Amino acid sequence: MATVLKTKPKKPFSISPNPSLLYLTPSLKSTIHKVHYVIENRQGLTAILGDIGLGKSSLLRYLHGQYVGREDVVTALMPSPNFPSDFAFLKSLCGDFGLRPRRSMVDQEQELRGFLVSLYSEDKTAVVFIDEAQRLTGKMLELVRVLLNFETEDTKLIQIVLAGQLELRTKLLDPTKKAIRSRIFAPSLLAPLSLAETREMISFRCEQAQMPNPFPELSVEAIYAVTGGVPREVLKVCAVALDMAQLSGEERIPPEAIEVAAGEALLHE
Ligand SMILES: Nc1ncnc2c1ncn2[C@@H]1O[C@H](COP(=O)(O)OP(=O)(O)O)[C@@H](O)[C@H]1O
Ligand SMILES: [Mg+2]
Repeated sequence: MATVLKTKPKKPFSISPNPSLLYLTPSLKSTIHKVHYVIENRQGLTAILGDIGLGKSSLLRYLHGQYVGREDVVTALMPSPNFPSDFAFLKSLCGDFGLRPRRSMVDQEQELRGFLVSLYSEDKTAVVFIDEAQRLTGKMLELVRVLLNFETEDTKLIQIVLAGQLELRTKLLDPTKKAIRSRIFAPSLLAPLSLAETREMISFRCEQAQMPNPFPELSVEAIYAVTGGVPREVLKVCAVALDMAQLSGEERIPPEAIEVAAGEALLHE
């Protein structure tokens, strides 16, 4: 007897930072362009700032994915820099590049510098993507500045892309951080989606999951009204609304259902 293989139900509104589910709005495209510019021109440091849920982690993974396979680039992705010290931070970064741990900060810096110089001599560069960068302590930010001092006459030996919540901006605005702040090239500030972008993002997610879009225009407007276009909130409300509709066998989700779904989605925070 043949077994019927059930295909796994697709989850169009998942909130994991999966870069392939990122709908590229003009503003995200412009951020991507800026980051490319900084990396390709070896400008050293750039930052992507924004409130939670606006797509920083997804975007950082998207960018990392673009560089990870390149022969002229060595990459490291730090999803969360929760290190007990700046030395631990440096050791972890070196570990990502396959370098051995050394006993002192100075030796570890030398190890990294030697590696970066040898990359440079092969026409390569190192790119580090650091997510949740608002967690970097003052000392770690100082280390980032030191790494940016590894340079030749015309180019930085390491490129660093920070993604962080707005607290990072506050931290960088502190007068003691002037040295690192002045090195940030073309920073980007992410904003919520517009109504049109919310509509396009929802329909993009449905396409990716190969399902018809269950949200008519008025429902999209209701979603936008309750979420302010913050992608993570949009997805949470959509996920709950879809779940409720599937339970009751509805194919179209009316605007009245959005308020109920939003209440539920918030309850589950
Ligand atoms: N432009 C977008 N298109 C599709 N999904 C998005 C978009 N921006 C954010 N998301 C989704 O929203 C959720 C939260 O994004 P995330 O990258 O974790 O935000 P942040 O790191 O800023 O808190 C993720 O599921 C992400 O895929
Ligand atoms: Mg994040």
